Amino acid sequence: MAVPSHIMSCGVFFMFFFLSTVISTNHACNKADHNSLWSSFDVPSSALNWSSSDCCHWEGITCDKDGRVTHLLLPSKRLQGSVSRSLGNLTHLSHLNLSHNQLLVLWKLDSFCP
Ligand SMILES: *[C@@H]1O[C@H](CO)[C@@H](O)[C@H](O)[C@H]1NC(C)=O
Ligand SMILES: *[C@@H]1O[C@H](CO)[C@@H](O)[C@H](O)[C@H]1NC(C)=O
Ligand SMILES: *[C@@H]1O[C@H](CO)[C@@H](O)[C@H](O)[C@H]1NC(C)=O
Repeated sequence: MAVPSHIMSCGVFFMFFFLSTVISTNHACNKADHNSLWSSFDVPSSALNWSSSDCCHWEGITCDKDGRVTHLLLPSKRLQGSVSRSLGNLTHLSHLNLSHNQLLVLWKLDSFCP
């Protein structure tokens, strides 16, 4: 039995809608993580291209499917400044690499070690 073509296109449209919803929610940055990132780095704003409203699209940032920041990888970005304790508020962070920069960290990084 042939499927009427208007039902077919409706199905395709639904699939597309479903996929695009999944993809876009995958990358919506968690607001608390956005704020933590933003207040953690005291570096010249020109140093990091963190202009997008969705922090999961920021340079060096990777999020999980819930929009929680899991990776913060900014090695050798010639960053000069300091990193504050707010970084510790990124509760889902599992990978951190800030090596080969000139960043001042005036607190213990112990909180990242189990
Ligand atoms: C980080 O967490 C502490 C304690 O929960 C809170 O006082 C502080 O405002 C948070 N900072 C940011 C930038 O979210
Ligand atoms: C900053 O990032 C945005 C989007 O992520 C991009 O469109 C823009 O070209 C970037 N700007 C620079 C100076 O890299
Ligand atoms: C951090 O990144 C640098 C440069 O990519 C690399 O050489 C280094 O091994 C990394 N450190 C860790 C702990 O992954």
